[in-house]
Amino acid sequence: MLNFSFYSPTKVIFGKGAELSAADEIRNFGGSRVMVVYGGGSVVRSGLLDRIGKELDQAGLPYLTLGGVRPNPRVKLAREGVQKAYDFGADFILGVGGGSVIDTAKAIAIGAANFGTDIWRFWLKELVPQKALPVGAVLTIPAAGSETSNSAVLTNEDTQAKRGLNIALNRPRFALMNPELSYTLPDFQVICGVVDIMMHTLDRYFTTTEGNELTDGIAEALLRDVIRNGAVAVRDHHNYAAMSELMWCGSLSHNGLTGLGRVNDFSVHQLGHELSGHFDVTHGASLSTMWGPWAQNVYAAKPERFAHYAKAVWDVETGSAEESAKAGIERTVNYFRSIGAPTSFSELGIGVRDDKTLQELTDSCTFRGKRTIGQFKMLDAGDIHSIYKLANH
Ligand code: NZQ
Ligand code: ZN
Repeated sequence: MLNFSFYSPTKVIFGKGAELSAADEIRNFGGSRVMVVYGGGSVVRSGLLDRIGKELDQAGLPYLTLGGVRPNPRVKLAREGVQKAYDFGADFILGVGGGSVIDTAKAIAIGAANFGTDIWRFWLKELVPQKALPVGAVLTIPAAGSETSNSAVLTNEDTQAKRGLNIALNRPRFALMNPELSYTLPDFQVICGVVDIMMHTLDRYFTTTEGNELTDGIAEALLRDVIRNGAVAVRDHHNYAAMSELMWCGSLSHNGLTGLGRVNDFSVHQLGHELSGHFDVTHGASLSTMWGPWAQNVYAAKPERFAHYAKAVWDVETGSAEESAKAGIERTVNYFRSIGAPTSFSELGIGVRDDKTLQELTDSCTFRGKRTIGQFKMLDAGDIHSIYKLANH
């Protein structure tokens, strides 16, 4: 087990009616003027935004709303939010929605506390923010895990670059998680959420670090739980038990727990971010498209690890480590298909692309030749191009 530090300070309030704690928790964490951030309207239609507004009114907390956050959230709206939060004198940012909304709330919180500095400079890693306003989250979709993560992912619409900023300041102070709030989700978002939750653990699981039995055991139990309950939730997303499992798995899958004591890989996320940056596809769908091609490219670096995964997660063990590894990969890709998640460019809806596009995705993924990705197997431009090629059908 490698040395690690684990800092997951988010207070979680989980279950029916959790959202009703918003005003109390904002006060607990020192907020007195609140900016409420939301997305394209689902929380207006469901009445959730109204309920939260009433809570804040009753608690005597002045607030301002900022809607219109789109999936793959854009830096432009976050910049507007920074100006508005600053003008209003907000001292607390509340995100009501999914990963895109919560990430925008995190970006506004950093921008407002560092007013005068363009926030994208933090995402380009030119500067490291030293302060941020506190953020709280009311979660409406089990998926990205932003409600407990140290990450915020933004897209720059001018350059098509999608970039994450991972810093402790990004951890929300609290997350209010009522699985009933996810009942209004479209089927496709439930599917993409299941994939993203699996991927936050899978991208930490395939590692060359030996040992780590507890981290492995937690990761494997979480994967089995998501796989089982994901299949139920996709058929019936009014199933409280299944949605509860998914929502809690979503938070634990991305708060760092399932990758402790080992080097993390995250190649599939980097490969997927290029697809979302260039084609604006849903995050989880980009991941199910890239996982199979990635696994095919890398498993031979250490087939025993994939064989271990096949046995622990899918209860598959056939002949050699290589055969078991292949069987585990096949089971995973078949699972994605069975829940309706795409596994190729054409299933993703972006069609079969020419080689120039594959080269552009590769260049962008390597930051124009400045980096490799991955740890399980280090991937250079040649590998990345081959992986995109495997997905291109
Ligand atoms: O915008 P509204 O109208 O609210 O609709 C949203 C949106 O269209 C809808 N939705 C959410 N909750 C709903 C609902 N519709 C009906 N009823 C509900 N209860 O779902 C759509 C997708 O929302 P989004 O917030 O984009 O989903 P998700 O939580 O999957 O977040 C994806 C974003 O998070 C980033 C992704 O890259 C992507 O930009 N990620 C953030 C991470 C983090 N901060 O830790 C880690 C992840 O790996 C990921 O990269
Ligand atoms: Zn993700």
